[in-house]
Amino acid sequence: MEFLKKRSIKSFLIFTLTMVIATIMTAGYSKAEISYQKVKSKTSMIYYTTQTIPLYKSIKGKDIIGFLTPATPVTLLSPLNISKKNRIKISVNGWSFKEAPSVVYYALGERIILLRLSQNAISNRIVLKEKKDSYGNTWEQVKVTGWIKGNSITNNISYVMDKARKIYEARCSACHALRPPKMFTANQWPSVLETMAKNAALNPEQKALVVKYMQMHAKGFVGRNVVK
Ligand code: HEC
Repeated sequence: MEFLKKRSIKSFLIFTLTMVIATIMTAGYSKAEISYQKVKSKTSMIYYTTQTIPLYKSIKGKDIIGFLTPATPVTLLSPLNISKKNRIKISVNGWSFKEAPSVVYYALGERIILLRLSQNAISNRIVLKEKKDSYGNTWEQVKVTGWIKGNSITNNISYVMDKARKIYEARCSACHALRPPKMFTANQWPSVLETMAKNAALNPEQKALVVKYMQMHAKGFVGRNVVK
């Protein structure tokens, strides 16, 4: 009898501990993310990063070859596996200055950062073509392949944009009326936001989200049809 009681106390404790750990592990994810993860749509090919995430060199191991910014479109190269533990293979397509190959941008001339590669990972880029812009700069269209955690993407870009818009609305209206994203072009926003992110005391992730939000809704942004 005494023995049985001890056992049941032990299994109760283990159960409670497991629940606490599970709660802590999912605490960072909102309802939207979790419900998305339940949907597991297999039809959508393009997914978007939900936050700043590391790009790993391979399926296992600690080697990080760069960091993807939030709302970066990625193409899945391995089956979608939404677990935090499993990595999925993805590729990112974009453009970079030939002179500064570690930064991959959204489009030629559209300096919305998608990926910052580590200096020693430049060789992970595959150059698809080369083009000169009207200023005489040479751009390279590149593709970078790597591995990311399975739970760091969504097929619903509005999920990421809404998260960013909430920060912008709450934090950028403290000293003046909200300045609309269309006030500047995608290339102009980063320098304006250098000062303003400090004013608003944004942490690096909040800043990354607001920069992306302003750029993707900026004056003359060509890719605007992908965001609402
Ligand atoms: C602590 C107060 C404060 C906060 C918070 C703040 N700003 Fe400002 N902002 C200012 C001041 C002061 C000016 C005018 C002087 C200047 O341009 O630096 C300004 C000017 C601006 C301008 C006009 C710049 C130009 O060159 O015409 C924009 C755009 C702007 N803010 C956007 C933002 C955004 C976006 C955020 C949120 C990330 C933000 N601000 C948060 C104080 C603030």
